[in-house]
Amino acid sequence: MQIRPLRAYVFDAYGTLFDVHSIMSLAESLAPGQGAMLSQVWRTKQLQYTWLQSLMMSATQPRDDFAVLTAKALDYAVSQLMLPLDVQDRQRLLAAYDTLAPFSDAVAALEALAPSPRFILSNGTRSMLESVVRSSSLAPHLDGVLSVDDAGIYKPAPAAYALAVAALGVDAADIGFVSSNGWDAAGAKAFGFTTFWINRDGMPTERHAAPPDFILDNLTSFAPLVAALPRWGPVP
Ligand code: LAC
Repeated sequence: MQIRPLRAYVFDAYGTLFDVHSIMSLAESLAPGQGAMLSQVWRTKQLQYTWLQSLMMSATQPRDDFAVLTAKALDYAVSQLMLPLDVQDRQRLLAAYDTLAPFSDAVAALEALAPSPRFILSNGTRSMLESVVRSSSLAPHLDGVLSVDDAGIYKPAPAAYALAVAALGVDAADIGFVSSNGWDAAGAKAFGFTTFWINRDGMPTERHAAPPDFILDNLTSFAPLVAALPRWGPVP
């Protein structure tokens, strides 16, 4: 496969750099025996709502931002699992989203890419993303955060990925897009990015679109792979 030298890297946030299931111990303490299930249903519903709202957007169905959808997805999960959570519990779970733990392999992967630009492009609101980055050890290793709110639609809509091209001023194929969400890697590939799918959960390859350019188990193997790729630099 011919890979052009990459000039910038764009990362998905939730599930890729930040572990959405790091709220599991809090969920478990609030709903003993159901923490893992609550976390799973919450995340699944949160993603479904982004896709459904992107399709349904109209005068009668305006788009909610990711903070609102995250809260609505939590309410659905609590209702489905019939959990006795009160208003304070709900607030604690939602607040935990602002301090999600980064995956242990994230800092080293970002650090190794310097001095190439390293951005986040996420469905999260700017406020959610700035909070979670600020609360983590990743902040010094990121050059910027892009929220799909500026496109008014969620990934995997092409308009959402186009925000990175506009912000970075770099051709899509020269941007390495990194996501652990298979559907996101597929959307990014269709858009034209060079894609790295971080298959943290050992899932099968998505079948509805072209496969990603690279498939890795985690971000630990990402830096060595990138180091072996052709490098972009000024012509001597
Ligand atoms: C994001 C979610 C979808 O960060 O993982 O965009």
